Amino acid sequence: MAKQSFTKFWDALTNKKEAQARAELVLKAINKYHKNSKTILELGTGIGAVLVNFPKQYQLSGLDIKLEYVDICRKKIPKGNFYVMSMHNFKLKNKFEIIFSVYDSINFLKKFNHWKSTFKQVEIHLNKDGLFIFDMYTLKALKDFKSKPANISKFHLGYITDKPTIKRNTLIWNFNVFEQLKNDQYQLHEYKFKESIYSIKKVNKALSKHFQILDMKSLEEGRRVLIVCRKKYKH
Ligand SMILES: C[S@@+](CC[C@H](N)C(=O)[O-])C[C@H]1O[C@@H](n2cnc3c(N)ncnc32)[C@H](O)[C@@H]1O
Repeated sequence: MAKQSFTKFWDALTNKKEAQARAELVLKAINKYHKNSKTILELGTGIGAVLVNFPKQYQLSGLDIKLEYVDICRKKIPKGNFYVMSMHNFKLKNKFEIIFSVYDSINFLKKFNHWKSTFKQVEIHLNKDGLFIFDMYTLKALKDFKSKPANISKFHLGYITDKPTIKRNTLIWNFNVFEQLKNDQYQLHEYKFKESIYSIKKVNKALSKHFQILDMKSLEEGRRVLIVCRKKYKH
């Protein structure tokens, strides 16, 4: 088994239409609840697959815990501002009208206290009336993924298999990439991504300290939910 960064394969594995659909969901919420906003920050921006779909009128920023991903964002979106930080304790000089996080980036946080501190940091970095929009896996994902069979697919660098395993509230994605070499040889690369999943009730309770929840949209047969909230007005 070789230790090869996942970055090498991620772009090739990205379904650009799905990333565009994630951007459209966020843009729909922005148009409904904060139409004339300009400044946007994405938490857990990865390789910028979602942000590249945003129209030019927006001033884009993103942060991710991995420098390699942030470097790719900087190349893809030269006018954007990108930071290597964790969403649970990020500190920036600027405030934003919109902060969002999609494709379950928030589920990558290792403990629930980090969800709480993320919500606090988001509130601090939002302007008055600013929106926080994010998606997360639900408890239904834990239940459904328990019996999900392994999946194999071909892509232009080789093959990839994925099989989730569940341990209590932890979902572990096991990815095996069989990278095609010369002479029909394949190199195996193994990756594990761990995500923690909590009930909507628990998350809403923590959110309600900082935000008013405006909308909740069930996605993927209830395995995912998109939550739109507004910074609470405090006297
Ligand atoms: C599933 S990817 C989603 C990427 C992107 N939002 C998209 O929709 O394509 C999750 C991302 O969250 C990032 N991430 C994980 N933990 C993080 C943390 N504590 N702070 C910021 N980003 C984090 C990972 O490095 C990864 O890029």
